[in-house]
Amino acid sequence: MGGYLIDSGWINLAYVVAAILFINGLKGLTHPRTAVRGNLISSVGMLLAVVVALLANGLDYTLIIVGAVVGGLIGAIAAVRVKMTQMPEMVALFNGFGGGASVLVAGAAFLIAREPNAQMTISTGLSGLIGAVTFTGSLLAFGKLAGFITGKAVGFPGHKIFNALLGLGALGCVVWLTVDPAATEAYWIIVAMAAVLGVTLTLPIGGADMPVVISLLNSYSGLAAAATGFVLMNNVLIIAGSLVGASGIILTRIMCVAMNRSLTNVLFGTLGPSADGPSADDVYAGKVKSTSPEEVAMLFDTAQRVVVVPGYGLAVAQAQHVVRDLANILESRGITVEFGIHPVAGRMPGHMNVLLAEADVPYDRLLEMDDVNREMEQVDVCLVVGANDVVNPSARTDPQSPIAGMPIINVDKAHTVVVVKRSLSPGFAGIPNPLFAMDNCLMMFGDGKKALTELVTALKEG
Ligand code: TAP
Repeated sequence: MGGYLIDSGWINLAYVVAAILFINGLKGLTHPRTAVRGNLISSVGMLLAVVVALLANGLDYTLIIVGAVVGGLIGAIAAVRVKMTQMPEMVALFNGFGGGASVLVAGAAFLIAREPNAQMTISTGLSGLIGAVTFTGSLLAFGKLAGFITGKAVGFPGHKIFNALLGLGALGCVVWLTVDPAATEAYWIIVAMAAVLGVTLTLPIGGADMPVVISLLNSYSGLAAAATGFVLMNNVLIIAGSLVGASGIILTRIMCVAMNRSLTNVLFGTLGPSADGPSADDVYAGKVKSTSPEEVAMLFDTAQRVVVVPGYGLAVAQAQHVVRDLANILESRGITVEFGIHPVAGRMPGHMNVLLAEADVPYDRLLEMDDVNREMEQVDVCLVVGANDVVNPSARTDPQSPIAGMPIINVDKAHTVVVVKRSLSPGFAGIPNPLFAMDNCLMMFGDGKKALTELVTALKEG
């Protein structure tokens, strides 16, 4: 970047202010009550960083304005049109573009540098490597989530060795570039190898592991940006990239813990129904009892304590408003209503919190998994709305289950469980759920919103 239109001292001061805004914004994102404000604070920080970075001399503002307008328009349309349930794939796409941008910016800066020093050369190599893995890996993850390609894990013989050799080869080229910065072809070889690696690393991962991979790729996009920050010697890019890199890896860890998987297991193992697992027929045949909204309304007549456990189906049905109406009616009758939130319910971290906050469900009604589990035996009716894997007791009882050991909400320990879903179809992990066949479980089949609306009507009329 050329000299700045304003003094570099002021520029760096503005970058420090932007960094403080990023960190405060991130802190705000740790609680639903402060999340919207946190998002706004971080956005102001980013605006400040971008405006100050644009004050460099010798920039072609026409191109920048065209880029900002086109990009801004695409972003605004996506923000309005993309559904909540499609957020993971949108994040995947954004991560990919972040990685791709790092490859191009670092590569361009390196190619026009007259005498690149070792720091610039190493950072350029790493930016190309991590950025290209992020780019192709994220586009593939997007394709899997959006259903353009199979969401299943697709391995090929020897893929682990192939990936290890490719990764080592790309690292070898980073060393080559460092030793001989004039060998610019090394950069493009790194990018090409890493682009293949992004595909071959992501292809063998599928199903319920995809959100974890997206969080990991999010972290990579931050690391690529930080490496590009070292290429450009731009402090705010180094800080912002490191924050994304660190928060992405923390989130990845939280998700792995919530699923009881190690990161190595996510990256190199597979999750899905095993051939010798019980079939849906074995689990359900002749044992499932269905119920009606009228019957469930009668169950509430004698209930004192109700816990609602939402899952992905609540998001699909957009039943958050009607579930709040139901809770209000029950509370007006003196029943205690709480919501049990599983950390990986839905398809993204905090998915249920966001949905329920949208419907103005008070935060103090949302209980974390461990808290709700401690009291489950005292719960009269547990209403499961569109949740499946996160309430599947085989995680606790069947060591052969693909979700064995995953902490779940123990809804089967409530006096009565009512499950609202459309059919006996499996959830994300693709396995049957013995809960649905238990003695204390009643199935209220139907779309979440429709079934709960009928339940509210039955309660009002009853
Ligand atoms: P799932 O196990 O995916 O089950 C969702 C259920 O919702 C389905 O069985 C489906 O049954 C039902 N459903 C769909 N549309 C519905 C509608 N309109 N009305 C009513 N029900 C509907 O969901 P979960 O229990 O929330 O578990 C989340 C899964 O995603 C876990 O396997 C978890 O490990 C995985 N995962 C999540 C994350 C994050 S961060 N959230 C990250 C990684 C993995 P029907 O088709 O019969 O209706």
